[in-house]
Amino acid sequence: MRSLLNIFDLTKDEIFQIFDLAEYYVKHGIKNSLNKLVFSLFFEPSTRTEASFCVAAKKLGCITDKINIQNLSTKKGEDIKDLILTFNQMKPDLMIIRHFESGILQVLKNYCDCGIVNAGDGINQHPTQSLIDAFTLLCVKEDIKDLEVLICGDVINSRVAHSDIQIFKMLGCNVKVFCHPTVTQDEMLPGVKLCNNFEEAICNCDAVIMLRMQKERHKTRLICQEEYKNLFCLDQKKLKFAKDSIVIMHPGPVNRGIEICPDVLEQKNCLVLKQVMYGVYIRAAVISFLLDS
Ligand code: CP
Repeated sequence: MRSLLNIFDLTKDEIFQIFDLAEYYVKHGIKNSLNKLVFSLFFEPSTRTEASFCVAAKKLGCITDKINIQNLSTKKGEDIKDLILTFNQMKPDLMIIRHFESGILQVLKNYCDCGIVNAGDGINQHPTQSLIDAFTLLCVKEDIKDLEVLICGDVINSRVAHSDIQIFKMLGCNVKVFCHPTVTQDEMLPGVKLCNNFEEAICNCDAVIMLRMQKERHKTRLICQEEYKNLFCLDQKKLKFAKDSIVIMHPGPVNRGIEICPDVLEQKNCLVLKQVMYGVYIRAAVISFLLDS
C-alpha cells in the first residue's frame, strides 16, 4: 500500500493527478464510493488537518476512527511501534499520523501493512498542506509555473515551509525565503534564494506565504514574539512594496498581529480560509489516490 510521507513520494505528474481529482471534487462534490477503514492518530494538536482528513474520509464513504491519544496505552508504557502493530491487526487501509518526532513515520511504516499519510512530523514535512497551498495558488492564478513565491517567517522550524519549498520548486516556481537573520544561503535547498531585505524580497512576488512562529520547537535561533512581529508581521506598511495582484497565504493557525495583521487577514487577496476549504478536497483526493494506487 502506498504512503505519502514526503512530497518527493509523488512525481510531478502524480501531483497534477491529485489536483485534477481535487478540482473534480470541487466542481461535482466528493463521491461516496470507498468502503475503507481509515485511522487518524494525532500526537500533536490540530484543528485543520485532523478535521479536514476526517471530513474528507467520511465524504468518501470510509469508516473513520479518530483515535483519542489521551486514552492510549502508550500512557502505560507501550512503545509506539507496538501501538502501530496493534492497530495493524484491525486491518486498516490507511493511517493518518501526526507526530512531534521528525522522521518517525519512515520507521513506523515498517510496522504496518497499510499506507501512512504524514499529517506533520516534527519540523520535517507536512506534504498535504503543501499540496493544498500549491492547489490554492493554482486555483487563483490558473498557471503556477514561473510564479514568484516568497516564504516568510520561521522557515527553519516549519514543516510546512520545508514541504512548500519542495513542491513549489517541483512545479517550476521561483522560490524566495525571508527568515531568521542568522540563516545562511548554504542552509537553503539549491535554487532557493535567501533574501535579507523584506521590501526587496516581496516587490515582484505573486504570492507570499506567512508562517506561524513555532515557539514549541525553538531550540536554537531563539527569537522573542516582539522581534518576530517586527521582522515578519505582514501589515499595510510592508504590503506597500508588493504588487497589487499578490495573494497572501498562511497554513494556519495564525497568530493575529504576530504573523499577519487583522486588517490584512480580511483583505480579498488573503486566501487563508480558501486554503482551509480546499484542504478537504485535496485530502479527499490524496486518500482516494493512495487507496487506488
Ligand atoms: N496547517 C495545519 O497543519 O494546521 P493544524 O495544526 O490546525 O492542523
